[in-house]
Amino acid sequence: MSFTLWFTGLSGAGKTSLSSRLYEELLKRSIPAELLDGDVIRNNFAQDLTFSKEHRNINVKRIGFLSKLLNKHGVVAIVAMISPYAEVREQNRQTIGKYIEVFVDCPLEVLETRDPKGLYAKAKKGTIKHFTGVSDPYESPQHPDVVVNTDVQTIEESLSVILEHLKEKSFIE
Ligand SMILES: Nc1ncnc2c1ncn2[C@@H]1O[C@H](COP(=O)(O)OP(=O)(O)OP(=O)(O)O)[C@@H](O)[C@H]1O
Ligand SMILES: [Mg+2]
Repeated sequence: MSFTLWFTGLSGAGKTSLSSRLYEELLKRSIPAELLDGDVIRNNFAQDLTFSKEHRNINVKRIGFLSKLLNKHGVVAIVAMISPYAEVREQNRQTIGKYIEVFVDCPLEVLETRDPKGLYAKAKKGTIKHFTGVSDPYESPQHPDVVVNTDVQTIEESLSVILEHLKEKSFIE
């Protein structure tokens, strides 16, 4: 059964890391899936968009629409995007239907020490503007389907929580 699994959370929280592990796990089970990662989308699908609220929301809605199309053809969509605004996440939930929201949660202090791309340092200096969590809002999900806490769980532990949820809801066997 096809579905969209949507990772939301701050930069560096672990969306890309977790989504690529989940993708591998689905392929191992011969479940057709496509990975839609925010960075890849920004470079190939949304070059026209800025990081304004309006454009971020357009981006999230576009990928929501694409996910629904993939689902229609039996392909699981795994999306890893910050998706900071609750309203469009909810719109996607309504339009997609089989939508599982995973909140990749991690305290800002931990993210600032991880900072794999050096973005938090730049955001704090003001070299990057509109940086989510520092100089741009992030509306934490109020009713996510799954929460993973990557400050206290390993990637594999978080992945198990997600796989268990998918089994529980009969999305996978
Ligand atoms: N328990 C954990 N779960 C996930 N990632 C972890 C964990 N512990 C450490 N990390 C590290 O944190 C970083 C997470 O980066 P990742 O690129 O996955 O984040 P992201 O949410 O995709 O960020 P962005 O929005 O900037 O794309 C990686 O370097 C990863 O190795
Ligand atoms: Mg990423």
